[in-house]
Amino acid sequence: MKITLNDLEKLSEEDNSFQKFTSRKKKFAVNKRVNGLMTNEGQNYSFETSDLEDLRGKAVVDELMFIIKSGKEATVYLAKSADGYSAVKIYTELRVRSFKNDGIYRQGRFIGNARIEKAINQGSRTGINAHQILWVNEEFRQMKFLYEAGIPVPRPIASSGLVVVMEFIGEDEEAAPRISDLTMKEEEAREAFSQSLNILEKIVSTGRIHGDYSAYNLLWNKGKAVVIDFPQVVNFISNTSAKELLRRDVSSLFKSFKKYRFRDLPDEERIYNKFLKIITETKTF
Ligand SMILES: Nc1ncnc2c1ncn2[C@@H]1O[C@H](COP(=O)(O)OP(=O)(O)OP(=O)(O)O)[C@@H](O)[C@H]1O
Ligand SMILES: [Mg+2]
Repeated sequence: MKITLNDLEKLSEEDNSFQKFTSRKKKFAVNKRVNGLMTNEGQNYSFETSDLEDLRGKAVVDELMFIIKSGKEATVYLAKSADGYSAVKIYTELRVRSFKNDGIYRQGRFIGNARIEKAINQGSRTGINAHQILWVNEEFRQMKFLYEAGIPVPRPIASSGLVVVMEFIGEDEEAAPRISDLTMKEEEAREAFSQSLNILEKIVSTGRIHGDYSAYNLLWNKGKAVVIDFPQVVNFISNTSAKELLRRDVSSLFKSFKKYRFRDLPDEERIYNKFLKIITETKTF
């Protein structure tokens, strides 16, 4: 999905991310401190970052309960509000480092503001801040689009700055495992593969490529696959590397299930060609 100037204006009206980004330097320091504190599990922390304060102000999140998973790019927390549980994904400042490698996904995303674009390309502090916010915001937008298209993704709840709030996938306070964490019995593994392939086909039918599709980004929740992690989603029509990304998504999915040694797997190349045909012909953007 292209980010137009209109979108940015709307964005800044909706969650004032863009009004905030010029003054983020100070906030980064706060974020860093809070993320440091939050690595101690089992405690509830006060909301010190402006992004979280913003979400608390909107009653989206009342309390962070504990870390579900801490990765190099983001930490995901189980959170509570009056509406129940949610999952809160907070991007770390470290994400900036791997931005070097996100050009392939960014390519074709239209920012629509020359000043912001220039700052991003120059890698200035303002540029890095804008870049981060756009990246996180893209995750929320794509999740919303896929959710509305009926694809099994967590229901997007809210986003502010470097934080994305979504439906918690799991039972009680127990997060659903990633398919990659499990060793399933054959029948269940077949079902998981079939659902995962089906989800990939549905994503492709919307003209999009997940860009990091594998069992690491598929949760297994009471016999149902749910796909997560969307900042790198690209639009087939506007990205010149889209074919390679699609090829890689198909291939990663097959690799994820290789350990089960299914004898009657569909041919990977045939699946790729089928999906390529679907995505080339799709009219949804
Ligand atoms: N909505 C959710 N409900 C339950 N658990 C979730 C949810 N979203 C994410 N998680 C957990 O948090 C982990 C990290 O989330 P995600 O894949 O979106 O972030 P990431 O930046 O890719 O992190 P990593 O580098 O660790 O993969 C997931 O592998 C999953 O275990
Ligand atoms: Mg992930």
